[in-house]
Amino acid sequence: MDSISVIGGNQLNGTIPISGAKNCALKLMCAALLTQEEMHFENSPNSLRDMDSQTELLEYLGCKISRDKSLMSINAGNIQTYTAPYDIVRKMRGSILVLGPLLARFGEAKVSMPGGCAIGTRPVDLHIKGLEEMGASIILEEGYINATAPKGGLQGTKIIFPKVSVGATENLMMAATLAKGETVLVNSAKEPEIIDLGECLIKMGAKISGLGSETIRIEGVKALSGVRHSVVPDRIEAGTYIIAAGMTGGTLRLQNARVEHLSAPLGLLSQSGIEVEQEGNDIIVHREIGRLQAIDVMTEPYPGFPTDLQAQFMAMLTLAEGAGMVTETIFENRFMHVPELNRMGADITVQGNSAIVRGVGRLHGAEVMATDLRASVALVLAGLVAEGETIINRIYHLERGYEDIVGKLGNVGANIKRVGG
Ligand code: EPZ
Repeated sequence: MDSISVIGGNQLNGTIPISGAKNCALKLMCAALLTQEEMHFENSPNSLRDMDSQTELLEYLGCKISRDKSLMSINAGNIQTYTAPYDIVRKMRGSILVLGPLLARFGEAKVSMPGGCAIGTRPVDLHIKGLEEMGASIILEEGYINATAPKGGLQGTKIIFPKVSVGATENLMMAATLAKGETVLVNSAKEPEIIDLGECLIKMGAKISGLGSETIRIEGVKALSGVRHSVVPDRIEAGTYIIAAGMTGGTLRLQNARVEHLSAPLGLLSQSGIEVEQEGNDIIVHREIGRLQAIDVMTEPYPGFPTDLQAQFMAMLTLAEGAGMVTETIFENRFMHVPELNRMGADITVQGNSAIVRGVGRLHGAEVMATDLRASVALVLAGLVAEGETIINRIYHLERGYEDIVGKLGNVGANIKRVGG
């Protein structure tokens, strides 16, 4: 089983290219199902397990996909089946996003329930309920969502989300582009990845307004065209490397990243002592060596502090001056990095959905276990500053969402390498 070895103590200095956002590219791939014409995506993240899984699923459905470095082309002109099977869907939850597009374009879809994952049960009831309100009849049977649209196709309607859901907003926005009449999504998610998906759909001919607000309006059209679209930069990858530099000290240039997508975390990081600035298309982060100040953080839907940076932020707090409280409000089980960080000498106490992190003088390297994507990268960050060697096992979690992290960190001075198991 592959692992990563990190020997702590080096500053990070140099340039890291930020990839296209995984949590946008996975949905853009599903949007390709809405048209029979070829789609071309630039700045698409490469060599990510999640992208490979989504590619496997779309090819299973009948899509023709070609990937050349960061250019991906998808043609859904010859779909052969409307069934997304369990053995593919179980690998990556983002597969549920084929449900809306298949139903909207073909009137039927049979998609395996994605199942939970390490960080929580992650139901898809809001996706299903919204599609039913658009007229779909949905039967849950033997672990599958069997969905059929009415004869005349999905009907536009007003859908009020009882809670903010990124995936449900995306699935229903895509379904609504080909529905009859207007769909209004109230209490929608506002993530930059959703705005980017919506902008791509508009380029394809969709009629969408309100992107980035809590109310998105979609006027259904008959058909959509194939377009070329560049994937928005990955704000979570950028935020991860900003925190890394804040912990190790040094100066990093993050190529093709946008501070405006990270306002909440950057506001907190500057209180802690990490300053960044935008220079053209790049973010520059500079940190003199020295202890950061502990601060409290609570995760919230965008534009609040992103849950996908919670574990990384906690790693930073382990060595900060004072104590910080981390409250996770989005997922019910997203503290699995805590016992692993404590094995490295951190002092973290979990109380329900909050964790108190008391800063310690140093961390020591240890053999640790990755459990989910963001917990894994938090262990890498801790390894960058720990005394001695840290071995992170089960790095397939890491490779789902961080393109070439060993190369990117190694190129800016980290003592990091993959070790085969
Ligand atoms: C997306 O997951 C991201 N994944 C997650 O990133 C991210 O943490 C999350 O949004 C929140 O920002 C992708 O984009 C592939 P939600 P998603 O629907 O869409 C509950 C990462 O590390 N909920 O906004 O699944 C749900 O259980 C991953 O890159 C329902 O109850 O998140 C959660 O508590 C992790 N019913 C909350 O809503 C539903 O039908 C937010 O989930 C849907 C969600």
